[in-house]
Amino acid sequence: MYRTHTCGELRASHAGQTVTLSGWVHRRRDHGGVAFFDLRDRTGIIQVTINPDLAKETLDVVSNVRFEWVLQIEGIVQKRPDGMANPKMETGEIEIIAKNVTVLNPAKTLPFMVSTDTDLADENTRLKYRYLDLRRERMTRNMVLRHKVIKFMRDYLDEQGFIEIETPIMFKATPEGARDYLVPSRVFPGQFYALPQSPQQLKQLLMVAGMDKYFQIARCFRDEDLRGDRQPEFTQLDLEMSFVHRDDVLALVEDLFTKMIPAVTPNKKLLSAPWPKFSYLEVLEKYGSDKPDLRFGMELIDVSDIFAKSEFKVFQSALAAGGVIKCIVAPRSADMSRKEVDALTEVAKTLGAKGMPTIAITAEGVKGSAAKFVTTEEVEALKSKTGAGVGDLIVFATDERKVANKVLGGLRLWFRDKLNLADKDMMAFAWVVDFPFFAYNEESKAWESEHHPFTMPKMEDLPKFDTDPGEVLSDAYDMVCNGYETASGSIRIHRRDIQMKMFQMLGLSDEDIQAKFGHMLEAFEYGAPPHGGMAPGIDRLVMLLADEPNIREVIAFPKNQAGRDVMADAPSAVEPKQLKELHIKFE
Ligand code: AMO
Repeated sequence: MYRTHTCGELRASHAGQTVTLSGWVHRRRDHGGVAFFDLRDRTGIIQVTINPDLAKETLDVVSNVRFEWVLQIEGIVQKRPDGMANPKMETGEIEIIAKNVTVLNPAKTLPFMVSTDTDLADENTRLKYRYLDLRRERMTRNMVLRHKVIKFMRDYLDEQGFIEIETPIMFKATPEGARDYLVPSRVFPGQFYALPQSPQQLKQLLMVAGMDKYFQIARCFRDEDLRGDRQPEFTQLDLEMSFVHRDDVLALVEDLFTKMIPAVTPNKKLLSAPWPKFSYLEVLEKYGSDKPDLRFGMELIDVSDIFAKSEFKVFQSALAAGGVIKCIVAPRSADMSRKEVDALTEVAKTLGAKGMPTIAITAEGVKGSAAKFVTTEEVEALKSKTGAGVGDLIVFATDERKVANKVLGGLRLWFRDKLNLADKDMMAFAWVVDFPFFAYNEESKAWESEHHPFTMPKMEDLPKFDTDPGEVLSDAYDMVCNGYETASGSIRIHRRDIQMKMFQMLGLSDEDIQAKFGHMLEAFEYGAPPHGGMAPGIDRLVMLLADEPNIREVIAFPKNQAGRDVMADAPSAVEPKQLKELHIKFE
């Protein structure tokens, strides 16, 4: 028997018991001839004391023991002497007085310390030795949290009458806006499976199959540019329901998360219940982003009316060109240095601004680059419309509406970080609804689906398909939290005629439609029920709950920022024989 107990479970109530523990040497100290180990397993850490009166062979073994050796310890649980308890450790009231020490496996000198949560190694070293990195308390905590989140989701949905169904990984291209990962077929030369960018088509086919309420902890694969919140393979809570309208889906998901957060992370607060719901246009106008961070105010305010007769060239020309003058009010920022304002102007420029006029309100009057071009009346009107007062900095964007919103949306987040405006323990969930159905791709000069091509347009907008595609709204919705898109979904097209129309609008030929999506269109002819669903991204949610800066920290074996697995070194070359079998030759 390797152990009678785990390291983390022992308490003062076990005092006097003889126990056997197995684990890793987390730390080692020697004091006045007595050696102390902190022994660690997944459940926690406990102090082991090696008295010098043990057998000489045991003491010889002990003297060699280094960090991360795997030991088995037999000993007696003892309360620590008065004043020696360590309140920072859950097992801090006790220690194990060792009787026997067995080395189960030694360890080489480590590439980095496991016993600290501070990142002393660069990320590629951490990923190369991910099995060591995961031993660290922070990473173990993240893995346990991820498990709890997924378990809560499974239990909750089971109670609500959902069933979990696995869908294939080797399938056919399922467009979600990224490139596909392809798997060449040996048996069918020149043909490929595609890894699903999501189980979208399959879950809809499950609805046609009458499964009614489906979910899956689903792996998705997308070949796209990586970012902190994007991995080439990631996990969704994928779900789909039959005979539902938008608000049925939203109510279910809102209830799931509202109950889950206090259960898995009691330290987190929800900003509001019920969650606020915004239209796509409304969030862009107010926050300059379709994934707003609602943990702080600083809304974008349109002040075009105030400056309708302005003498200021920058304002005049923006309005003359049909644009807008919008602003945000940054608190405690009137005294920002010239250098800081210049740095911020650069940020504004990368977001598309030509410049960044400012007005600082100080006790001595207005300052800032736009100050000398505005009248006292304009400043008074500005103060009354925006609520700005002494100490505030008003930052303007003067451009076409879309650009102005984007610029101020980005600057708003810059101030959030600089002024620490967002409470890190707040989860500010919200719904964004009424998305445009089509997005016009300026490069390819073609309409694309804003969500995915299986999304239902608002029925009342159907007549605008041919006349004003840009005006058609969709029955799609996003769940956002703290500046991230954490889920998206929609009511689906379940009628063949509408689905055909959608594909045609996307410029697909009839042959293409048949070859790529014939199976979906055919299924819709056999009694497809109205249905809809959504897919929260599990990695992003766990990242937010764990206060981690990117999703790699909450995935056991992520790819690095360049998309490589640096531990196993993948992707990697394969045997020429394998390529031959797959009928593949390289140019
Ligand atoms: P969508 O493509 O918006 O919708 O994805 C849903 C959610 O998945 C997460 N996500 C990602 N997480 C990590 N890395 C990525 N590369 C990545 N891409 C997306 C996000 C996102 O909100 N089939 C539809 C859902 C539906 O309509 O039901 C879909 O996949 O949190």
